[in-house]
Amino acid sequence: MEKEELTLALLNWYKGNGRILPWRYKGGAHPDPYVVFVSEIMLQQTTVATVLTYFERFMRRFPTVQDLAQASQDEIYAYWQGLGYYARARSLHQTAQAVCSQYGGVFPHTRSEVSKLKGFGPYTIASFLALAYNLPETVVDGNVMRIMCRLNRWTQPLDEMMLQIRSFAAELTSEKQPADYASAIMDLGATVCTPKKPKCHVCPWKDYCQSANTDNVEQIPQRAKMTKKEFNGYVWVIKNQHNEVLLRKRTEKGLLHGLYELPWSEDKIYQRAQDSGKSVSHIFTHIKMTLKIMLIEAKTCDDGFFVPLEKMHEYPMSTLMKKILHKI
Ligand code: ADE
Repeated sequence: MEKEELTLALLNWYKGNGRILPWRYKGGAHPDPYVVFVSEIMLQQTTVATVLTYFERFMRRFPTVQDLAQASQDEIYAYWQGLGYYARARSLHQTAQAVCSQYGGVFPHTRSEVSKLKGFGPYTIASFLALAYNLPETVVDGNVMRIMCRLNRWTQPLDEMMLQIRSFAAELTSEKQPADYASAIMDLGATVCTPKKPKCHVCPWKDYCQSANTDNVEQIPQRAKMTKKEFNGYVWVIKNQHNEVLLRKRTEKGLLHGLYELPWSEDKIYQRAQDSGKSVSHIFTHIKMTLKIMLIEAKTCDDGFFVPLEKMHEYPMSTLMKKILHKI
């Protein structure tokens, strides 16, 4: 098997079968690196199907890197609501500002410069440079890992195979058409070499793949089991006599920095609260959070400010907080 044959077979397949996506440009570098930047940040930890419902609205409001740099953080959060992982929205804003102030609004195109920008980890550096500047970078995400393991029938645990996976994936990357190649391998993983029920019969690599059409193809790669931690606590619905509810703005650095929330705590800090009998659960990356919803009436409270229920939508909040408001 020649690696060049695999590369060409995939590029050929992509011409006729690649997905049409609003942030995608087939046939080379995307003419607007800003489009690649926004989409790649959105696509971190979020599926294509979900991003599709946010991307165009976001781009209509912030069509250029300057528009994004000049916007307020609150407004960017408002357009990000529902996508989750809000640290990304903050990185997006900071990077837009850095690109405007340090690079005159033109995204840099070297590894060393791009890796200094907020929001760019190893995967996004590679995908951005490949898609926005057609540079021969290799994208390696969960899809690519699965494809490489199946192709070679590597049945060992995934975390023991990373070096081989990266080096094999790099050897297959097209030197001449890295942008199309990056999109093509993403599409192969998303539409053909899927975790369950892969469609081996339509795969451009079926004649080379050592797992194609085998019974246990779904068991490759072998993943390490991840344990989810649990957090149990209370969320405090503090109402005043005007039926307004107390909100506070998160100031801590971290996951949900800058968003608004109902006060919550691990301990039962308010003894006279009434248990609503309801609770709400939400899974953040590695933690399952369950909060009992507790009701309190209070004239004043210095842990935030009171907001009428009909104005709640003006305050950007995490999905967990929206679930709670929905329940009350
Ligand atoms: N996942 C990450 N980047 C992507 C892209 N550009 N297209 C489709 N899926 C992706």
